[in-house]
Amino acid sequence: MKFQKPPGTQDVLPGSAELWQFVEQTARELCRRYHYREIRTPMFEATELFQRGVGETTDIVEKEMYTFEDRGGRSMTLRPEGTAGVVRAYVENKLYGEPDIAKLYYIGPMFRYERAQAGRYRQFHQFGVEAIGSADPALDAEVIALGYSFYKAVGLKDVAVEINSVGTPQVRAAFREKLLGFLAPMKESLCKDCQSRMERNPLRVLDCKVDQAKFEGAPSILDSLDEECSAHFARVRECLDAMKIPYSINPRLVRGLDYYTHTAFEYKAQGIGSIDTVGGGGRYNGLVADIGGEDRPGVGLGIGLERTLLLLEKQGAGPALGSAVDVYFIAMGERAEREAPGIVQRLREAGLAVERDYQGRKTKAQFKAADRIGARFAAILGDEELDKREIALKDLASQEQRNVPLAGLADSIRNLITTEKGIVTNDA
Ligand code: HAM
Repeated sequence: MKFQKPPGTQDVLPGSAELWQFVEQTARELCRRYHYREIRTPMFEATELFQRGVGETTDIVEKEMYTFEDRGGRSMTLRPEGTAGVVRAYVENKLYGEPDIAKLYYIGPMFRYERAQAGRYRQFHQFGVEAIGSADPALDAEVIALGYSFYKAVGLKDVAVEINSVGTPQVRAAFREKLLGFLAPMKESLCKDCQSRMERNPLRVLDCKVDQAKFEGAPSILDSLDEECSAHFARVRECLDAMKIPYSINPRLVRGLDYYTHTAFEYKAQGIGSIDTVGGGGRYNGLVADIGGEDRPGVGLGIGLERTLLLLEKQGAGPALGSAVDVYFIAMGERAEREAPGIVQRLREAGLAVERDYQGRKTKAQFKAADRIGARFAAILGDEELDKREIALKDLASQEQRNVPLAGLADSIRNLITTEKGIVTNDA
């Protein structure tokens, strides 16, 4: 019997995992700067949370959820997105009782039963932030800026920000009628998806890639905004201008989740086939109350990490990852072998990254291994060195070798690393 990973999932192997770590660390560092604090919520929640939160007529809830009955007969769902769970935790833990607004972030797996392809998976990872407790449009701009800065900080080029206002539920209801008036005469000519969306969620029709050309001249939601929505949207733009975040206004931008009010935005980039959205978010002023909490406004974003990494790879961007191993320890002879575990352990306790041989390989093969893993130094211990309580250190880049005392070995290595090349070790 041969097992394979489930369709739409990925193994992240060493080599890629370091890139993941880089991207995740970048996200964490940005959250520190913008003062968002980490929250960790369960990977599954009551199914009803997503039905109410994300929306009954969304693709996610209708076709993409991993729903199961647990042994107690409760309907549970693997989280398809992060916002509903974070808002549930906000309500359950009464974070609204605190004097400051809640600025939260998360990094973790999400699950959607989608047709798997490059950039679209059934288990994927999001970096998300949620800011709950303020309706200030400057906060919308802060969230948009944070996402934009994330792409810049990881090294992605050509990420475009698109923004829109989807108004309030009242504004949307009025716009819906207008839009249906425009779409009705062409209904028969539209694709099946569009026809069914017309019934359930007409705003999403404008999102259709197939029929896009037919929608020229469609009414724009921006013309239907009331005074308050317009003022909010104008202020978001003002803030983005002040922050020098480039953006364009896309009045057709509708997100795939139902909770949005006012600002909706997406980050777009080319390079993953027909998929061009790498992240998105918006304001959700009704969501906290919808899932049973006090009425508090919120805004947030979700960034797809697989898509970010795919594009980094495509663009040949991303960081040059330094050598992960400082020292490859090579023992020559029985006495050295006996000393090896102790010396290696002390070096590691001193914060150096150290590797050694466990396959009984000859010295030459050990040097090869040291090169292969990109070790900075080889530390070679033989009888002669042991007699003098010394060890030979070989710089594997320059091939220079010198003997240093065994006592204080970690410090000697650290000095060599910092003074010779100005490189700081990988220690914590
Ligand atoms: P979303 O647009 O559904 O929003 O997902 C955000 C991002 O997650 C997408 O732009 C994409 O990069 C990534 N993503 C979504 N589905 C997949 C998939 N099947 N495979 C790979 N990547 C995927 C949300 O989830 C909202 N919770 C964002 C938000 C937070 N809005 C307010 N706060």
